[in-house]
Amino acid sequence: MYNGLLHMHSGLRWVVLVLLIAAIFNAFSKKKGGAWTAKDKKITLFAMVFTHIQLLAGLALYFISEKVQFVEGFMKNPVYRFYAVEHILLMLIAIALITVGYSKAKRAASDAKKFGAVATFYLIGLILILASIPWPFRNLGAGWF
Ligand code: HEM
Repeated sequence: MYNGLLHMHSGLRWVVLVLLIAAIFNAFSKKKGGAWTAKDKKITLFAMVFTHIQLLAGLALYFISEKVQFVEGFMKNPVYRFYAVEHILLMLIAIALITVGYSKAKRAASDAKKFGAVATFYLIGLILILASIPWPFRNLGAGWF
């Protein structure tokens, strides 16, 4: 169960990153005068849904992972601090921003404002996600896949 979830969570990062980059690129390229079509809605929705799936897998891992430890002095241990506090906090903010961007785009009065909401909120979310992924070179005990 733990191994399956960990592999899913680790691999899904790439799906999340590709979908977010596609949605952001699409929004920036159509911001000035593009029409909001069903295709734009789909790509924006898919990117958000996959970040939510990643959130659910992450939440489950949070309760079973040995890397989340609230032992005495855990804030002084870089690995424990990262997973118990930094990773979850920044990811929650990122996913909340992406969700806000999606609902703002849904309610916006003009197509330009829809693309603008996706471009801004998804981009900030992506930056936060990139900054809080435990990339192998950060020595946090995680791999590339
Ligand atoms: C888009 C959001 C997220 C991305 C891209 C992401 C990505 C990752 C990656 C790449 C790993 C390393 C996996 C490995 O060892 O190979 C990881 C580990 C972990 N993530 Fe996330 N994560 C996200 C959100 C979350 C959230 C919201 C939580 C908690 C609620 C969470 C909890 C964890 C935990 C506990 C681990 C450590 C698992 C272990 O090695 O035992 N993640 N995450």
